[in-house]
Amino acid sequence: MAVLNVMSVTLDVPDIAPGLDFYAAAGLVASVEGRQAHLRCEGQDRASIVLRGGAARKRLHHVTLRADGLEAIAKAVPAQGGTVVAAPAGFEDGGLWVRDPHGMLIHLIDCAPDAPLAARPRFAVNGPGDIVRSNRSAMLPQASYGPVRPLRLGHVLLFSPDVPVSVLFMTEALGMGLADRAQDVIAFCCTRQGSDHHVVAFAKSPGIGFHHASFQVADPDEVGRGGRALVEQAGKGDWGFGRHTIGSNFFHYIQDPWGSWFEYYSDIDFIEDYSAWTPTNYPMEDSLANWGPPVPHDFVHNYEAVGEEEA
Ligand SMILES: [Fe+2]
Repeated sequence: MAVLNVMSVTLDVPDIAPGLDFYAAAGLVASVEGRQAHLRCEGQDRASIVLRGGAARKRLHHVTLRADGLEAIAKAVPAQGGTVVAAPAGFEDGGLWVRDPHGMLIHLIDCAPDAPLAARPRFAVNGPGDIVRSNRSAMLPQASYGPVRPLRLGHVLLFSPDVPVSVLFMTEALGMGLADRAQDVIAFCCTRQGSDHHVVAFAKSPGIGFHHASFQVADPDEVGRGGRALVEQAGKGDWGFGRHTIGSNFFHYIQDPWGSWFEYYSDIDFIEDYSAWTPTNYPMEDSLANWGPPVPHDFVHNYEAVGEEEA
């Protein structure tokens, strides 16, 4: 019984049109059915982001996680403060629908994994006394590069009014592992076998909500190139290029039309076997980045928690 990876995030939004423009500029492929938009990575046949238009404002509807042992998870959920619920109106009955202790809706589905990504040429860095690339340039003229295309959804960061409670639910009811955390303010959960450093993460906020979805790209150059291109098209805030301490990934975040974020990442830490991993509790100075530009004033503002006091 365990979560195996994150499949998608479903958001209620006022109007899908700005979202279609934003995610197309980010390199995702859209299909539209009425007021719903399904946005997928080019090499995949399933959505990573689902937008449902017609809402008063943007709000997280649910997160979909691939998992096995759904019956065992259903039994473990109540003891950790969660609830097994019926599928919401308009959604399929398959899998397992649960609410976490804060009411956040999670859809667990037992399905085949995505096809593995094709290996790319290694990102070769010439170091002092360690020449790994000679007689060729690392960079080609700008015009040689096409638009950056996300390869897969790697993780989501969600807001939680009580991060340790959210983590306990993910670890004890859903079979994930705590990878690392920074005090009780931000925490990162991985799967138990062959996992990116984080698959589902939580940041402290007055209420639940969606902070960002993070997509893997080929290498750090694509993080920088894709990030710059999307900032210029989206015209809102951004944060990056930088590198996280927790997870080690290079990042560039671009603000979506509703104030949450889209992340391109490359080179995240990998946890082969969680039983051999020891979580670290980092100081707050390492909670966001190891290095990068100044953090935008609203980077961790939860626009979904309207009317709720800042913690
Ligand atoms: Fe991230």
